[in-house]
Amino acid sequence: MRLLAIETSCDETAAAVVEDGRRILSSVVSSQAALHAPFGGVVPELASRRHLENIVPVVRAACGQAGVGLAELSGIAVTQGPGLIGALLVGLNLAKALAWGLSKPIVGVSHLEGHLAALSLGDEPPPYPHVVLLVSGGHTSLYLVRGPGGQEELGQTVDDAAGEAFDKVAKLYGLGYPGGVVIDRLAAAGDPAAIRLPRPRLHDGTLDFSFAGLKTAVMNFRNKHQGEPYRIEDLCAGFQEAVAEVLVKKTLMAARQQGVGHLALTGGVAANRRLRELMAQTARAEGLGLTLPAPELCTDNAAMIAAAGCHGLRAGRRLALAGDAVSRLPRGGSLPAGC
Ligand code: KG4
Ligand code: ZN
Repeated sequence: MRLLAIETSCDETAAAVVEDGRRILSSVVSSQAALHAPFGGVVPELASRRHLENIVPVVRAACGQAGVGLAELSGIAVTQGPGLIGALLVGLNLAKALAWGLSKPIVGVSHLEGHLAALSLGDEPPPYPHVVLLVSGGHTSLYLVRGPGGQEELGQTVDDAAGEAFDKVAKLYGLGYPGGVVIDRLAAAGDPAAIRLPRPRLHDGTLDFSFAGLKTAVMNFRNKHQGEPYRIEDLCAGFQEAVAEVLVKKTLMAARQQGVGHLALTGGVAANRRLRELMAQTARAEGLGLTLPAPELCTDNAAMIAAAGCHGLRAGRRLALAGDAVSRLPRGGSLPAGC
């Protein structure tokens, strides 16, 4: 099964061609980061307009790099939600037009299930069952995954997502956008022990997270130490360490509670080098297996949408021509039934 996938849920215009949900023939990602950088975050209307300009060239590039003509596709997968409605509609409408014009099957994909499916694109997909930490700009959740599309949410953030916290702290200090990438880079030259920040909800006994308070702690630190010399690299390292420690310890707690021997990490924040390192150290020390996708498969891409779409098409799911974009998903991360 050779699928063309389209992803336009936020600020990346992406298309990919993937065979059997496993083999990436092409994966093209056109980032809008420079467009939104002056605003310190994504401006929805600008995102939709840029998707409109980029989507056809990006799809052409994906088919060209894969050496696959539209007629040779088995079907089309497209992100249906969650995300910015205007942005989602650009990809959704092109996908519908292609599917209708080519008389090919089309499937709508949950962006979250896409991030989970990214794990099956590496050389060694994780064995089932496994515990996944999904950390992105919009979500921070722990899932028990028993099989493809069979995830059960164990915990989630009660306020900001981890990526959102990275982005807000970077914005507070005017460091640039996307914040996670900049903080990752600056933290590499900092001392994680120089500035100690709180580890929110670390010992609350639940698998839920909270990052809004950590962002406030950074804000308070900044106000309190105004005019005093400290290194921004140390602040970034201290903040990153606090986030990584909470994420890793709660993931380990989830695996222990579920009696599961394999961990996995996915979503944009899973590209963070310190989080990857700490998760790898912890897994090794605890004798657990660990799947870490390549960084370019952690951040938004369309190959992961193709992987999830392949599973959906095989399960008989189809997107109706009237199928709408979905801004929010119900708890669990799958698209609502019948949409
Ligand atoms: O999965 P993703 O590309 O888009 C969403 O679904 O949200 O994740 C984007 C988020 C942003 O908040 C960005 O700052 C963060 O992932 N991010 C990182 C890194 N690369 C991207 N956070 C920490 N370290 C990174 N290296
Ligand atoms: Zn994402």
